Amino acid sequence: MKGKFICLEGLDGSGKSIQARLLASWLRRMGHGVLVTEEPTRGPIGKIIKLALRGNLKLPVAAEALLFAADRLQHVEQVIAPAVNSGKIVISDRYKASSLAYQSARGLPLRWVMKINEMAPDPDLMILIDVPPEVSSQRINRSRRLDEFESNLELQRRVRQAYLSIAKLYRMKVVDGNRPVGEVQAEIRKLVENLL
Ligand code: TMP
Repeated sequence: MKGKFICLEGLDGSGKSIQARLLASWLRRMGHGVLVTEEPTRGPIGKIIKLALRGNLKLPVAAEALLFAADRLQHVEQVIAPAVNSGKIVISDRYKASSLAYQSARGLPLRWVMKINEMAPDPDLMILIDVPPEVSSQRINRSRRLDEFESNLELQRRVRQAYLSIAKLYRMKVVDGNRPVGEVQAEIRKLVENLL
């Protein structure tokens, strides 16, 4: 039987990663096979992207967008599709909505970003964990050094707006992430229950 592909989206510091882990352990307790994965990936293209995010490689914004899209296609072919085809529930911390939100917020035409991501299949469920940028940046400030995108509050505001408009276009479920972790998780579980 085919599995499912769920992705979690949101600003850095929105709580995506912890929510992905909690969701995975809940699903495992119910007996499902689960794979938690992320973008950018740890693969060769993901490594180049991370150099750019840390400021160690200067790239045009459009070239970055193409790298994110290429990293995604490799992720689908080598990780996501095989796991879904073997019946697993795949939870990805970021997927194509990240490109639509971030790369359009960085000035690229949304249509073009959609075009270069056309070959990446749509997930079964996309969840946006929505938090105001002031909250998300406070959370990450406390935990680590910020990368190029994270340190720019104005960019984070544009990314949030872009996410909210994309959510309407793509039937992405929006969860209010500005609440205790357990409450956010309970709402995510309800959305996932409807899918299983
Ligand atoms: P991460 O902090 O979740 O690992 O993501 C790294 C950064 O990359 C984050 O600021 C969001 C950004 N990003 C994009 O701009 N486009 C994309 O398609 C993805 C997957 C991430």
